[in-house]
Amino acid sequence: VRPEKCVVAVDGPSGSGKSTVSRRLAAAIDGVYLDTGAMYRAVTWAVLQGGADLGDPDAIAKIALETELSIGTDPSAPHFAANGTNVDAAIRGTEVTQAVSAVAAVPAVRKHLVALQQAIIAGQPRIIVEGRDIASVVAPSADLKVYLTASSAARAQRRSAEDAGSDVAATEASLLRRDKLDSSRAADPLKQASDAIEVDTSDIGIDEVVAYLLNLLNSKVKS
Ligand code: DC
Repeated sequence: VRPEKCVVAVDGPSGSGKSTVSRRLAAAIDGVYLDTGAMYRAVTWAVLQGGADLGDPDAIAKIALETELSIGTDPSAPHFAANGTNVDAAIRGTEVTQAVSAVAAVPAVRKHLVALQQAIIAGQPRIIVEGRDIASVVAPSADLKVYLTASSAARAQRRSAEDAGSDVAATEASLLRRDKLDSSRAADPLKQASDAIEVDTSDIGIDEVVAYLLNLLNSKVKS
């Protein structure tokens, strides 16, 4: 499948398989991949570097708007930099993971990053975009909207397998905390768009999910 033009939105909670599925889909259609969670994470890294108080939305917004982001969209190597520093490892660390929900809840931060995301999408013929609010806010006219879910146990298993030596129970508690913050915030909370196709990945393999979505995409867009 190599559609002439397509935008695919992949939303869902942490650990639902979004990144793996999105990268595989992008590679399969010779398209690019945009990890919007990594954008919130890179800004969070800059906010922590800047020493802003996480309870001060104005201080967070100021740093977020001043941060120069370099956003990689190659599905095989999506590198990120903030203010000239590579942040690929740092944005997956505990400090950023614990602070990111607070930063992502600030409306001015979201407005800024959503505009950047929309500009990137507009410049690409084929793009897979993963996040929480892609189908509802960033790309409401996406050709295909996917909502990935999985049980919290399956999500925690996957996340802790990625982080060698991490504890599954602690990972599950941290995921559930973040889900709660992300779904209950006032600005663009995580929720399933009414026209999104839900795929529960708890018990099916990634290969199957990717094949299913490629078929769906094939039936929706012109190659
Ligand atoms: O997908 P992730 O775990 O890397 O996302 C990191 C955080 O960013 C997550 O807690 C929610 C937030 N996020 C968001 O609010 N909107 C998005 N489009 C993507 C991520």
